[in-house]
Amino acid sequence: MDKKIARYKELIALIEKYNQDYYVNNISDIDDYEYDQLYKELTKLEEDYPEIIISTSPTQRVGDVDDNLVTSDKKIEHQIRMYSLENSYSRDDIIEFIDKVKKVVNATVKNIEFVIEPKIDGMAISIRYSDGVLVEAATRGNGVIGEDILDNIKSLGVLPATIKDRNEIIIRGEAYMPISTFNKLNIEREAEGETLFANPRNAAAGSLKLLDSSKVASRGLKLFLYSIDLGRKNSNHFDDLKYLAELGFPVNENIFKFSETDDIMDAIFEIEKIRDDLDDTLNNKLDYELDGAVVKVNDYAIRDELGHTSKYPRFAISYKYKSESATTKLLSVTFQVGRTGAITPVAELESVQLSGSVIARATLHNNDEIKRLGVKIGDTVIIEKGGEVIPKIISVDRSVENIESREIEIPTVCPVCGEALANDISGVKGYCVNRLCPAIVQGGITHFASRDAMDIKGFGVRIVEQFLEHNIIKDISDIYHLDRKAILKLEGFQTQSVDNLLEAIEQSKSQPFHRVLYGIGIKNIGRTATKLIVKQFGDIDTIMKATEDDISAIYGIGIGSASILVNFFKDDINMKIVDRLRSSGLKFEKETDLLNKTALDKSFVITGKLSQGREYFKDLIESYGARVSSSVSKNTDYLLAGDDAGSKLKKALELGVKVIDENELSTILAGS
Ligand code: IVH
Repeated sequence: MDKKIARYKELIALIEKYNQDYYVNNISDIDDYEYDQLYKELTKLEEDYPEIIISTSPTQRVGDVDDNLVTSDKKIEHQIRMYSLENSYSRDDIIEFIDKVKKVVNATVKNIEFVIEPKIDGMAISIRYSDGVLVEAATRGNGVIGEDILDNIKSLGVLPATIKDRNEIIIRGEAYMPISTFNKLNIEREAEGETLFANPRNAAAGSLKLLDSSKVASRGLKLFLYSIDLGRKNSNHFDDLKYLAELGFPVNENIFKFSETDDIMDAIFEIEKIRDDLDDTLNNKLDYELDGAVVKVNDYAIRDELGHTSKYPRFAISYKYKSESATTKLLSVTFQVGRTGAITPVAELESVQLSGSVIARATLHNNDEIKRLGVKIGDTVIIEKGGEVIPKIISVDRSVENIESREIEIPTVCPVCGEALANDISGVKGYCVNRLCPAIVQGGITHFASRDAMDIKGFGVRIVEQFLEHNIIKDISDIYHLDRKAILKLEGFQTQSVDNLLEAIEQSKSQPFHRVLYGIGIKNIGRTATKLIVKQFGDIDTIMKATEDDISAIYGIGIGSASILVNFFKDDINMKIVDRLRSSGLKFEKETDLLNKTALDKSFVITGKLSQGREYFKDLIESYGARVSSSVSKNTDYLLAGDDAGSKLKKALELGVKVIDENELSTILAGS
């Protein structure tokens, strides 16, 4: 026990030191993940040995040391407490969160919606409008009492002074400093001999609390509002966010709404991708820091049922993008031509271990990034990997001498087809505009056949290359008009392998519309976006008729992507390919019109080896309006089990959930 108490005290001391460093001294020696591990260890000790808890433990206080920064003595008591969020780091954590939510919620509510939004790395604020006028603005403080920052917030000029809603309304959000503003500010501060801000978050916090409001304006802070806490207009969060935007408040545009774990995870990674997108041609490059995503229960009634712990709401969780780093040497740079023609510099590295895998390549994103890093061949570089993204070079370790020190040469012609390169709008990346460039053609076809798109088994990069080389295909529409005899003449193909491939291609015709649309490979339109577009418009003809405004009205799709989509269908060559795919019998409309057909109100879980991939069955089941979850619970109606089913089968049997095979699935779906 003595040992436990000693560790307990040590943990408290460590956490307090890191809090002090982070909030007061603007330094941070450990990352969020390590911090949370310490915090979790502390909570666990307190759970196991409640007798040792002391009232000054960080777990017993809502506030953070934020209070130490107090500059004004005008305090504001929050009418509604401001909570913080529990952190999570993995898919399993999210599954656990969703399961907990489902457990608490009345079993009749089966399809719980979650909203997934970026977690902005700034400072929390609370604002109040009364009779349509901005009357109060406060920091979070300790969650119960905050500081008055009304004058400072007003001086930013980013909030409407009056709104048409006359009710008492409390809105919360995050104040942040754009990265570009932060960089400029630090340059100025350096010139003035002032201490530099460690990061945009600290700069935002420091600026908001300046005593002289006129100075605040020059700091260029911005806001995103993310919740209505009093005076709600709708019965759910998502609609209230739209309402906030309507009232003229800045609301983040990358906000998604999904029910299924897979979709929620996709949205989380999509936000991470958006964050990492340094090379977007349409200025989608984010100028603010986000350090994770927040997953929130959408429905307010369900939220009320869930309630709060002493520190966190039970209806929301933050997912932190974890990044680990390693040091290695830059050997050379290859310029890769992507399926959209964008040229991406890729660093060829001396192999190194990172997050459990061996890394030999990392992205350098674009030409500006090479300049920004000032990186040369032979440099020792620090690479980082977070979530699902490919590793990237984050900095050069200048303490190690570079004997080779050779400049990286930026190509002016396409490294594959030799055509002169065009610049993208932002000028940071070269583009090959030759649509016949072998790299673009090959990338496009491989993408079409890939697992996330048409999922044509066995049709990988090598075969695509071989088919292109022998003129068996020229574009994706040729895939459905292959000449069996011609393939048989190729090296490595026997009757059986050709038949398998042709069968896989035939089967792909039943892939749902959103996969076809994603497979066609429209620049900037990712998996999540295609799903949203299909959900909104239903079929290809309606999509083609949609205007930029119609498309960008979908939450989560920006005007840039909308314009690309509209232009895509104006192009004759694209239209020819689409028409040919259509006449080959591919799906160009949503499977089941749920308005005309009653949805199958059942919940499925899929496990074991089946005749097709799980995604196939998931799409099929969902097309009937039924739900697919990733874990078996008492709310599961059917477990679709293939060969070698393991723990899910066991659990289903324990809970008395009906176990079915593929044939039974067909019967159930047909009967719906
Ligand atoms: S919701 C009831 N949504 O993260 C919890 N918070 O770690 C209210 N944050 O104090 C928070 N972006 O300052 C929410 N989209 C978002 C957010 C967000 C950033 C901050 C917020 C909060 C902190 C919790």
